[in-house]
Amino acid sequence: MTQKKLLRGVAMVGAGMSKFGAFPDKSSRDLFVEAYQDMKASMDKGLDPREIQAFYMGNFSSDQFEGQAHMAPILASWVGLAPIPALRVEDACASGGVALRQAFMAIAAGIYDVVLVGGVEKMTDLPINEVTKALASAADTQFEIPAGFTFPGFYATMATAYMHQYNATLTAFNQVSIKNHENGSLNEKAHFGTSIKDVYEGKKSKAAAQGKPVPTWQSEKEFLADPRGNPWIAWPMSLFDCSPVSDGAAAVLLVSEELASKYSDHPVFIIGSGQASDGALAERDSLTHVPSAVTAARQAYEMAGVGPNDIDLAEVHDCFTIAEIMASEDLGFFQHGEGWKAALDGKTARNGEHPINSSGGLKSKGHPVGASGTAQAVEIWKQLRGTAGARQVPNEPKIGLTHNVGGSGQTTVVHIFESRS
Ligand code: COA
Repeated sequence: MTQKKLLRGVAMVGAGMSKFGAFPDKSSRDLFVEAYQDMKASMDKGLDPREIQAFYMGNFSSDQFEGQAHMAPILASWVGLAPIPALRVEDACASGGVALRQAFMAIAAGIYDVVLVGGVEKMTDLPINEVTKALASAADTQFEIPAGFTFPGFYATMATAYMHQYNATLTAFNQVSIKNHENGSLNEKAHFGTSIKDVYEGKKSKAAAQGKPVPTWQSEKEFLADPRGNPWIAWPMSLFDCSPVSDGAAAVLLVSEELASKYSDHPVFIIGSGQASDGALAERDSLTHVPSAVTAARQAYEMAGVGPNDIDLAEVHDCFTIAEIMASEDLGFFQHGEGWKAALDGKTARNGEHPINSSGGLKSKGHPVGASGTAQAVEIWKQLRGTAGARQVPNEPKIGLTHNVGGSGQTTVVHIFESRS
């Protein structure tokens, strides 16, 4: 289907997030207030909250994680926005990105002029077995879960098929993790604000302080190859191939193009949006790419009138390291089967030819599932405005992309953003 052109343009004029991590003393409400305040603080010309006309909130499962359904109006009221319409958007881990797309379409269609997008998830109140079970409800519970799958298992299956088909090595997965932890160490909002070197040096110091045998790790490679530091979760995915279980929230403010200069000296325009769906993993012809990502990317590129080589940086859905490698191919940055080599060659580093996950990605920044897609837009906002600090991608990036996946690829939503300053 050919993409329709936008009836009118849409701009992002504010973006913020809470710190991501594990916060036993904070609820979704507290986290969302942090994100909302951070978003307001990012606005060049301030915000009168009475101008916000609607609230779209990405959230996977506050009912399972916190026993609280119907979260959107509660959060809207908590930050003083009632009685505007407030709704939860649920598409598993793509909820935040799909909420952004719903708000974008509502503005483009002329329904609203000023819309708040949120994403929130509070996952760490439950023990890990219950978190895993709650996450598994995003898969096909009739066929996949009874067969014993969990999400690490789905991506391990894809990683195994990818290694078999393209002779990829575990070191390529390691390299994605090393890069994303390095980027995350420069992000004060990241769940893990540490490089992998810092992680293993910390473990060595702790062992020494406790009078225990001190491991001899001298490099990231040695540490990641040692199951004592980096145990298998579902082969070939180890602990450091997995995104963590996180709490966090993000918020962005979208307005119609004609209002952009009222709110911002340097708005970031959303110029392309695409979304596609798929069935269970077993229904697909191939396990080595995600068809919904290819389709969503094609739609977004077509709407934006740009191609993969125009993208200056991307935030992709690295829920597991294999997912980042497949995304780098599904988005057209590299040929199928070449993404793992590109990762090893440093082509996806901040100063590489296709910078990916300058924020630290889900792997290091964290993955509070319903917030992740919205938080990707926050990083693009900072990078395209040149305000990403120590992790700023060089050469004044102008065009950024976000890629947000639900489940094992049952949903993918892609957005393309442009700075015109
Ligand atoms: N990467 C690196 N280190 C991690 C980690 C991760 N993903 N998750 C936890 N850790 C670290 C903790 O910081 C802690 O370190 P410490 O001992 O030095 O303090 C240690 O591992 C144990 O943490 P814990 O919270 O007990 O881990 P866990 O066993 O409960 O959880 C996983 C580990 C991998 C099972 C969990 O992170 C997970 O399920 N991840 C995938 C989430 C997912 O599927 N999301 C949806 C994607 S579609």
